[in-house]
Amino acid sequence: MTINIAIDGPAGAGKSTIAREVAKTLSFIYVDTGAMYRAIALYVLKKGIDPKDQLSVCENCKFAQIELKYENRKQKVLLNGEDVSTEIREEVVGNVASVVARYDEIRKKLNVLSRRLAETTNVVMDGRDIGTVVLPKAEIKIFLTASVDTRACRRFLELQERGENPSLAEIREDIRQRDYQDMHREQSPLYQASDAILIDSSDMKISEVVDEILNICQKRCQI
Ligand code: DC
Repeated sequence: MTINIAIDGPAGAGKSTIAREVAKTLSFIYVDTGAMYRAIALYVLKKGIDPKDQLSVCENCKFAQIELKYENRKQKVLLNGEDVSTEIREEVVGNVASVVARYDEIRKKLNVLSRRLAETTNVVMDGRDIGTVVLPKAEIKIFLTASVDTRACRRFLELQERGENPSLAEIREDIRQRDYQDMHREQSPLYQASDAILIDSSDMKISEVVDEILNICQKRCQI
């Protein structure tokens, strides 16, 4: 039997950094499901398909083969055999991912991949609907959030560090819009599962959040 840890929450709450760290400590695999939605979004952008055209997106995405590969526990995302792990991190790709993630056909396709991984390996999986839809029986469920302002500031600093010249107001608006889209869509909207533990990381350091999750794992599953 495998142990599954589900971490859900809005964009920019620190899910991926925290999930990666928890997985590393526990020697689990970290599965970033957002990366799969981003790979689909990249395909849509490359093909010049209008992301809002559901029929066209779903028809064309039958030809987008997404694979997650792990080398030294590090996730690589392959789109039709090509490593797109870096390309999918662009801001525009994230925004299109939020649009195509509304489509049931896309979600079903990616859920199959996610569940297959969780059935065969101990995973820390992050996303928007892991505890509610993808792995409803996960041993541990965390809902990780932070205020819009905190998340916007974190993203702003991250982009500045990369040498970019971001606008805080634009980032804030992007986050607000993405939250709205992710929480109000018909298919698998983002919400806290009734059995998930809420952690608000607004005033917490990454290491504090990681420690809190590790404590929960220890108490619940003795790991
Ligand atoms: O976590 P992220 O920013 O990389 O995710 C990109 C988009 O994918 C996000 O706006 C919502 C969507 N997503 C989703 O709907 N369900 C998931 N399990 C993961 C991501």
